[in-house]
Amino acid sequence: MSDWSAIEALPSSTLLELFDADPSRLDLLTLDTAGIHFDWSKTHLTKDAIDAFAALAKARNLAGKRDAMFGGEHVNVTEDRPVEHTAERGEGKADSVARARQYHARMRALIDAIEAGALGEIRSVLHVGIGGSALGPHLLVDALGRDDRRYDVAIVSNVDGIALEDAFDRFDPATTLLVIASKTFTTTETMLNANSAIQWMTEHNVEDPYGKVIALTASPDKAVEWGVDETRVLPFSEGVGGRYSLWSSIGFPAAIALGWDKFEELLEGAAEMDRHFRLSALHENAPALAAFADLYYTQVRHAETRAPFAYDERLRLLPSYLQQLEMESNGKAVTVDGQPVGRPTAAITWGGVGTDAQHAVFQLLHQGTHLVPVEFIAVIEQYDTLAEDHHRQLLLNAFAQGAALMKGKQADDPARSYSGDRPSSTLLLDTLDARTLGALIAFYEHRVFVNGVLLGINSFDQFGVELGKEMAKAADQGGGDFDVSTQDLIRRAGLAAGL
Ligand code: F6P
Repeated sequence: MSDWSAIEALPSSTLLELFDADPSRLDLLTLDTAGIHFDWSKTHLTKDAIDAFAALAKARNLAGKRDAMFGGEHVNVTEDRPVEHTAERGEGKADSVARARQYHARMRALIDAIEAGALGEIRSVLHVGIGGSALGPHLLVDALGRDDRRYDVAIVSNVDGIALEDAFDRFDPATTLLVIASKTFTTTETMLNANSAIQWMTEHNVEDPYGKVIALTASPDKAVEWGVDETRVLPFSEGVGGRYSLWSSIGFPAAIALGWDKFEELLEGAAEMDRHFRLSALHENAPALAAFADLYYTQVRHAETRAPFAYDERLRLLPSYLQQLEMESNGKAVTVDGQPVGRPTAAITWGGVGTDAQHAVFQLLHQGTHLVPVEFIAVIEQYDTLAEDHHRQLLLNAFAQGAALMKGKQADDPARSYSGDRPSSTLLLDTLDARTLGALIAFYEHRVFVNGVLLGINSFDQFGVELGKEMAKAADQGGGDFDVSTQDLIRRAGLAAGL
């Protein structure tokens, strides 16, 4: 495609050469917004590269598509829907924003009622949901709910009964609120977990188990049909995609456990990032610059993966959250017009927690044969209260790893040599509060969007998850047209009754 040619023709200097050549490199490739310092100076982006990507963005009408998304147009073309997650934080089409506000008010009123004892004594929240209906709330509660958490929260996603039994062991059924989170209210894993949780409550003589159920869903009728009282159904809009839904009623466990004020701060932080994304020129636009770096490595340097490492225990779930956000959104092979994309799309997102990962997987990052753009996410403010200098060690390690990846080291012994010139970016948060976390997550959402627009794909559908679901359902019903290998596995596991 001709509009990529300028990008593909960019000269390939090393990172150290780029630093030597441009004394103002930090000015060009760092920026501060919404309590986050972004540093892409240790990537191969240059002024020319950014100009070339900005030209591509213009050719792909990024600004128009961004405005169309915020304006409520049906940018999710394959599902003929608007994309409404920004409306949850007050940034979007007026009627979408008004509806989101109504839904939030309903959620807040229910939380107030629960706190006032309307459902009896509640000490714990058992949230069942999967994918986007679990990863977001889990990240929020884990990151922000370390102290002054008002309720014990368990987020159970896996259909493996062990996950649910672990939660049963922790909680008293008499004082547990069962929260069923499912956009469609049909997802097999979630409905099975919900049924088993009801059974657990019943077996323990909870008087009215269904009276302790809250539903978070875009299909309220199905929730009512299942047995949830209409007053305890918290809806959200169809236009809010599962992996973009933590801002909606899907964020209920965070809102109840952390308190409504924190939930609102989360939304405000995200709204601040929305405005930054909408109003900043591309050369100063954090999601756009991050996406340019992503695309430089996937398209020009053929990187197949990217690896975010959270140098903060509170963000240990961030890499898994980003895996769904990025891979489910941009793991596509056709354009919005149904044509083959003809180039690589999303990198495989993996990652982990620093410093643990340094002693496990960083060997490959420093000396392996794969090019892996690394992303360090760290927080300046210390949270632990230990007398020893843990936080100082944590941050210094993050920064030293980035420097080492870039610098490398030559030694006489090839086994002890490091090639260097390995890219990384750093996101340094002033503090980890609800507002900054909201901004951080919104940054990632918009970065995914920019990647999608420049690749010409729809980031908001996920048809790739359907076939496996259909085949599992067919097998469960004793049918399915399975190959001999799969039939053999089914028989070996003793599941062949109906086949
Ligand atoms: O299988 C993929 C998926 O549809 C995700 O996109 C979604 O977040 C998850 O399943 C859960 O779906 P639901 O919220 O409808 O239960």
